Amino acid sequence: MDKLLITGGRPLSGEVRVSGAKNAALPIMCAALLTDQPLELDNVPKLMDVRTMAKLLGLMGVQVGPQADGRLQLQAAQIKDPVAGYELVKTMRASVLVLGPLLARCGRAKVSLPGGCAIGARPVDQHVKGLQGMGAVITVEHGYMNASAKRLKGARIVMDVVTVTGTENLMLAACLAEGTTVLENAAREPEVVDLANCLKAMGARIEGAGTDVIRIEGVGSLSGAKYRVMPDRIESGTYLAATAATSGKLRLTHAAPQTLSATLEKLREAGADIAVTQDSILIEMARRPRAVSLSTAPYPGLATDMQAQFMALDCIASGTGQITETIFENRFMHALELQRLGADISIHDKTAVVKGVERLQGARVMATDLRASASLVVAGLIAQGETLIDRIYHLDRGYEGLEHKLSSLGAKIARVR
Ligand code: EPZ
Repeated sequence: MDKLLITGGRPLSGEVRVSGAKNAALPIMCAALLTDQPLELDNVPKLMDVRTMAKLLGLMGVQVGPQADGRLQLQAAQIKDPVAGYELVKTMRASVLVLGPLLARCGRAKVSLPGGCAIGARPVDQHVKGLQGMGAVITVEHGYMNASAKRLKGARIVMDVVTVTGTENLMLAACLAEGTTVLENAAREPEVVDLANCLKAMGARIEGAGTDVIRIEGVGSLSGAKYRVMPDRIESGTYLAATAATSGKLRLTHAAPQTLSATLEKLREAGADIAVTQDSILIEMARRPRAVSLSTAPYPGLATDMQAQFMALDCIASGTGQITETIFENRFMHALELQRLGADISIHDKTAVVKGVERLQGARVMATDLRASASLVVAGLIAQGETLIDRIYHLDRGYEGLEHKLSSLGAKIARVR
């Protein structure tokens, strides 16, 4: 199994182009299920999860073109088998995003329940509740959700928790429903807005994406479209945190600064100088970072997907930071690995207290999930000596060409067997 070998202690310096957003590309690919016309996408990141989604859609009969230079064409002229099997769903929870569009397009779907996850229980009850609210009949047998509906009907759905893919699944389904659907307490994430913009380009009638109330007026059919996926705000935040932690200087291009304001604010609090333009972010950390305290929250709050990277930054900052995780109940696995590098972290229920130390020492560590592995990369770039990160397949799910991009910034990093 591949590992990453990092020799730390070098400030990152240079320029990186931000890739397309994984968490926007996945639901947007599912939008192809809603029409028999071609959906031509651009800025699609080359990632394991994108390949998994392409495979899942292909098994249903969707024609998925080759991915080249960020371009990907999908066409669901026919859906021969509206089924998402356990073998693929267990490798990627976001597969549940096919449930809503399959029900809307085919009137039936069989989708494996995603099962447990390293960072939390992550049930899909809000997805099911919403679709049942639109008139679907959903039973769970042998680990599968069996769903059927003659035609979904518009409904008012108040979500009990703010859920990103839950909002996306219901928005996808509502586009072809009879009548108007109102989603209340909806997620406001930029990825939800990106999906809504793609659906509108296909002829959907959606208002309020980006707010906590989204109105979707169902239509008889959708057309094909050309659409460019938004830049990845979490990939952006990861490179910015790594640069701040190594006291470096970086320009991110092809970025969307307005989608990561909370992250930029926190980095300024840590002492970084940050300048933004329409599509670029320049960061410089000319001193030892100051420890920051934070509490994760749904957008526009501080993203839970940035929590681990900030913990790594706090490990060598001056002072003490308190990090509270409010979204997922088990998202501190990286703290135990950071302690192996000499970090001073104590965990009290949902809060981790990080006392900054002068330096970290390289060691062998293990990645447990996507963002935990990103925090170990940041820590490895800081630590003295060599850090060897195991199970980096987690990284390949969400970071395009990570070691190449970091090498171009002067990092000493290599993939080893
Ligand atoms: C999305 O996951 C992202 N994944 C996650 O990114 C991200 O961490 C998360 O949103 C929160 O921002 C994708 O977009 C593919 P949620 P999602 O439903 O939609 C509870 C990464 O690192 N909940 O918003 O699965 C749930 O347990 C990944 O790129 C229910 O109780 O997250 C959690 O506590 C990791 N019932 C909270 O809501 C439901 O039906 C928020 O989860 C659904 C969710």
